[in-house]
Amino acid sequence: MSGRELFEKAAGGTGCAMCHGVNARGGAQLSAPDIRGATEDRVRAALVGVVAMSRFKLSDAEIAAIVAHLAELNKAP
Ligand code: HEC
Repeated sequence: MSGRELFEKAAGGTGCAMCHGVNARGGAQLSAPDIRGATEDRVRAALVGVVAMSRFKLSDAEIAAIVAHLAELNKAP
């Protein structure tokens, strides 16, 4: 899966977009923040520390792909 597919569909079809929004600008659900351009460290910390996100089981490669996708979204106007 590409970073975009993971972001939109990981973990049973809901992905990160369900809460953070398809553009990662946040606010879709549970007051999830804007995460455009989030670094790998931030993503890893959130996957461990945010209870709502703890069901995600992502490989290193999948995390890297999502981080790359968040960097792309950060370039969009
Ligand atoms: C069920 C809702 C939900 C889903 C799904 C979700 N998140 Fe989150 N995420 C949150 C919430 C809520 C917070 C804020 C938690 C807090 O501030 O305590 C958060 C915080 C974050 C942060 C930290 C932001 C910062 O300021 O450092 C990152 C990074 C993040 N999420 C990335 C992801 C990624 C990547 C995925 C998909 C693998 C994902 N999230 C899926 C709800 C969600």
